[in-house]
Amino acid sequence: MTPRIVGSINALGPEFGRFALWGDGPLIGYLNCSLTERGLGITDVFVEPEYRHRGYGKMLVERFESAARESGFVEVRLGSWIESPEAEAFWKHIGYEGHYHDGCGNCGFRKRLE
Ligand SMILES: CC(C)(COP(=O)(O)OP(=O)(O)OC[C@H]1O[C@@H](n2cnc3c(N)ncnc32)[C@H](O)[C@@H]1OP(=O)(O)O)[C@@H](O)C(=O)NCCC(=O)NCCS
Repeated sequence: MTPRIVGSINALGPEFGRFALWGDGPLIGYLNCSLTERGLGITDVFVEPEYRHRGYGKMLVERFESAARESGFVEVRLGSWIESPEAEAFWKHIGYEGHYHDGCGNCGFRKRLE
């Protein structure tokens, strides 16, 4: 399978972006992002369970970061309801720094773009 990512940070309008990860058949993952007064942020990222742990989640985030860099952003954020410690481990593993945690499952991560 040769995975490919199609999308942009303004794919769905000036404030909403999507990157879709395609394999040989149906969609296998996606990343959605949005631009708010707090900056550019990832709203969700998902990889189909049978395709996890192959680097596709990281690939989607890196593609998003590269598009953000090209558009002049120096920082990206993630504001999310983190349901599992595994998801938190994923963000930390790919360089995102936790900057708040409200104790109720809501937490935020951010990353400075080099
Ligand atoms: C989170 C998610 C997108 C990760 O996708 P993935 O394709 O499995 O992730 P990758 O294979 O790219 O992993 C990237 C890195 O994170 C680490 N990682 C991934 N899943 C992990 C886990 N469950 N626990 C700890 N580390 C993890 C890997 O070690 C990997 O590092 P490496 O490439 O140096 O080995 C996927 O598990 C998912 O869709 N989960 C359900 C939705 C979700 O929770 N989204 C995030 C909401 S905030």
